Amino acid sequence: MKNILVIGSTGQIGSELTVELRKRYGGSHVVAGYIPGAEPTGELKEGGPAAIVDVTDRRSMEDVVRKYEIDTVYNLAALLSVVAEKRPAMAWKIGIDGLWNVLEMAREHHCAVFTPSSIGSFGESTPHVKTPQDTIQRPRTMYGITKVTTELLSDYYFIKYGVDTRAVRFPGIISNVTLPGGGTTDYAVEIYYAAVKGEKFACPVKAGTYMDMMYMPDALNAAISLMEADATRLKHRNAFNIASMSFDPEEIYQVIKKHVPDFVMEYDVDPLKQAIADSWPDCLDDSCAREEWDWKPQYDLESMTQDMLEKLRQKLNR
Ligand code: SER
Repeated sequence: MKNILVIGSTGQIGSELTVELRKRYGGSHVVAGYIPGAEPTGELKEGGPAAIVDVTDRRSMEDVVRKYEIDTVYNLAALLSVVAEKRPAMAWKIGIDGLWNVLEMAREHHCAVFTPSSIGSFGESTPHVKTPQDTIQRPRTMYGITKVTTELLSDYYFIKYGVDTRAVRFPGIISNVTLPGGGTTDYAVEIYYAAVKGEKFACPVKAGTYMDMMYMPDALNAAISLMEADATRLKHRNAFNIASMSFDPEEIYQVIKKHVPDFVMEYDVDPLKQAIADSWPDCLDDSCAREEWDWKPQYDLESMTQDMLEKLRQKLNR
């Protein structure tokens, strides 16, 4: 039986990943790691054990790993792209110094580790259409620099010490549960809230800006399936391209408008977000993930939109 620690369990991905892992492995086998000020509440708090885990404090992490006999760590501690650009030293401290602590701990305690990378690990010189699995990665954002370093360091610990590190490159993730904070792809979540609340939406990136996006259930499934995959089939480890949909603001707007005909979107371009988005791929080639661990997404833009609108209407009482 697996004993899992989720670091960053109250964040954008962690809050739903922890609940999903508890469904699959049992509540008592999944520890929700959080930092003070971001305590778990509701289902996350009730569903199983929780403990303070700060990646920058190795001792706090080791105590929890020992106490709960952890063998698998989902390390989701990170700052998103726009925040990282404003606080680069903090992004490095959490993303890389923190990762170093996680990997050292994993080496000593024989844990498998999942630390996500991102479409942000690519840069302007990367081929933007059908971006290959193995290609140029020269990002110029601090977010991207920490993500490429994450991939390299995670591979290093696998090759040198046999630590079972695996990861995916997440696209922008869309969900109706926890809001993202400070990412370039956040607009694709905020647009649904505006549509359901009957508000006009000001889009921070230009028409024609394509980025890979994914609905949360597919993102969770990707992380868990990869950690469950047969190791002998994996030719890659850190990190796999995954993809399910790519759209620009006009496309998502039109799909939402089919369901909310009087919804209005305007543009109010944020230069930082636009510059970051322009440096990222339009769409990734995920054939290695499909071949090596049978990756297959369930949702496209239309089915995600139907589900998002339905769930947000319930949540916001509209
Ligand atoms: N959603 C992330 C961001 O926008 C991309 O991985 O920063």
